[in-house]
Amino acid sequence: MKRAGMTLDKDYVIGRIDHRIYGSFIEHLGRAVYGGIYEPGHPMADEQGFRKDVIELVKKIGVPVTRYPGGNFVSGFNWEDSIGPKEKRPKKLDLAWFTTETNEVGLHEFVDWCQKAGTQCMYAVNLGTRGVDAARNVVEYANHKSGSYWSDLRIQNGRREPMGIKLWCLGNEMDGPWQMGAHTAYEYGRLANEAGKVMKWVDPSIELVACGSSSTEMPTFGEWELTMLNECYDTVDYVSLHRYYGNPTGDTASFLARTMDLDDFIKTVVSICDAVKGRKHSKKRINLSFDEWNVWYHSSEQDKEIQKADKWGRALPLLEDIYNFEDALLVGSMLMTFLRNADRVKIACLAQLVNVIAPIMTRNGGGAWAQTIFYPYMQVSRYGRGTSLRALVNSPVYDCADYEGVPLLDAAATMDDEGHVTIFAVNRDMAEDIKLEADLRAFGPMTIKEHILLKHSDVKAVNTEENPYNVAPVAGPGGTLENGKLEIVIPALSWNVIRLG
Ligand code: AHR
Repeated sequence: MKRAGMTLDKDYVIGRIDHRIYGSFIEHLGRAVYGGIYEPGHPMADEQGFRKDVIELVKKIGVPVTRYPGGNFVSGFNWEDSIGPKEKRPKKLDLAWFTTETNEVGLHEFVDWCQKAGTQCMYAVNLGTRGVDAARNVVEYANHKSGSYWSDLRIQNGRREPMGIKLWCLGNEMDGPWQMGAHTAYEYGRLANEAGKVMKWVDPSIELVACGSSSTEMPTFGEWELTMLNECYDTVDYVSLHRYYGNPTGDTASFLARTMDLDDFIKTVVSICDAVKGRKHSKKRINLSFDEWNVWYHSSEQDKEIQKADKWGRALPLLEDIYNFEDALLVGSMLMTFLRNADRVKIACLAQLVNVIAPIMTRNGGGAWAQTIFYPYMQVSRYGRGTSLRALVNSPVYDCADYEGVPLLDAAATMDDEGHVTIFAVNRDMAEDIKLEADLRAFGPMTIKEHILLKHSDVKAVNTEENPYNVAPVAGPGGTLENGKLEIVIPALSWNVIRLG
């Protein structure tokens, strides 16, 4: 059996974990809203039409913040279409996904849903087809107490208290040619600065996320961040990062190593933020909002067919990736990458939450169930709170088609405010178990409270409505913890949560 070593100390600290790194995303896309969170007439629907079975699953995860209403959708969206009496709301063509948006669920309904699901709304404004005026108006509508046109209209529409939306995205992926109203970096930086400035004049308590590149693969990646931050550095609080991975060639070894790229991406954007800080002689630090991340590739071909067959359809089953076991391993590793960068990654949103590239699936009129990726997401959200510890890991490595020197044991560790330590680990070795020997003497007496394991003999195994627990956590083999020395077996190709206290 291979061996790996780890040293942990409560004084080796990366940073305080901002719980918003366990955020998610609901876009007006596919069946995320209609048929996902909202399905009036469903046996589990509440008085507003929200599915209570979905809310229960969201609550199980613990999702502190949910980005809304897009995504690409937001770049053509008029927020005013989504308020007031439902029967008067217009049906509009959505040019992001070539479907029809009915606006049955809008700002008020979504904020109500957030309250029911125990999450906070992170609201994106349209800086594609719209601009400064619409952006400041929606802040006034949502957050201003009363006594102005927009705040009084909110009250007239049934909500006396302000919505108190604290986190705002200044557009979405504004560098992408697929975006309605895409901009150059300079144009966007100027617009983000002006929109952000007046939004904060309306409500100085809000925080703003500026669009970084839509991925590292954009030819303008790097230059985009430098140029746009140069224009809006003083106004914004975070820069966004988006990244999706896939395994279309079936190369599991390379797929599981994608977090090498993710870590590099994060560190590059941090460097650029700090370079602009230096250039401006600023004392302010810009942190990161990784507000779209996941595995996304399974549904790409079927989506083309669906869109061809029903252009301008409503709530089409788009981006319905069915996640397998290896996807859950990568999602676990991506979460650990955020933990290892907890000093700078303050927000992250798993894209998305229900049906659309999501941990939660539903059938219209039928059940709701957890996909494979639900489990690492839920477990890191539950147990990865408090402080991220710098785990000194000494692991055997492997080389694959895309990377060299990839640690076979991918690990991260946290300590909550009661002093409970959790070790998260993925064994990337396809065949061999790894014996983990961890030196925990710095913590004093502790015991192994729980070893949770996610493992399946088939990397392509999935969960379905008929077989929802095919890939589900079980109790791990556990190990020994004596005199501060932990010995535990991390089975080949597995996701592990080791809770100590
Ligand atoms: O999450 C799906 C889409 O991916 C979003 O709408 C867009 O921002 C990104 O390209």
